Amino acid sequence: MNPPDNRIAVCPGTFDPITNGHLDVISRACAVFDALIVGVVNHPWRKGETMFSADERVRFVENATRELGNVTVEPFSTLLVEFARERGAMAIVKGLRAISDFEYELEMNQLNRRQAPEIESVYLMASAKYSFLRSSGVKELATFGGEIDELVPDEVAKALKERLSH
Ligand code: PNS
Repeated sequence: MNPPDNRIAVCPGTFDPITNGHLDVISRACAVFDALIVGVVNHPWRKGETMFSADERVRFVENATRELGNVTVEPFSTLLVEFARERGAMAIVKGLRAISDFEYELEMNQLNRRQAPEIESVYLMASAKYSFLRSSGVKELATFGGEIDELVPDEVAKALKERLSH
């Protein structure tokens, strides 16, 4: 158990790319824990290819969270609970948007809990304005020339437009 003044949490995700919804969860989570490590999945076999490389995804998260003093960003390619354990985290923090997230997260929760019962999973409800925002939706909008500037950090909007213009 971490002492009360060193409560570390991991906020994991593929972040392909990071959205303002992720940032909302990250900025609220870092107010609850002493240190928050954003873990960027570097092994997305479950979902196939990512649009952005792990290095790019890590850089986007780093740049978007620079103002938050207790947030660090790292790629990981092990089991999430192993990564959390190695970093001394007591919790995994995730955002929950619509009910559709619940079933998947319940499954992940049971997998993760079975592997590491000592690491608690904590869920923050998405703010209403982001409850239907997901990276895949942003990529689809961007592909068809939709407006994405309000949905992702400026650097990400620029990178998406550049990537999709090729
Ligand atoms: O929905 P996301 O953003 O792709 O979530 C990824 C992640 C790692 C948070 C989710 O798949 C999860 O909780 N996985 C638990 C199982 C695990 O450790 N997988 C290996 C990931 S490298």
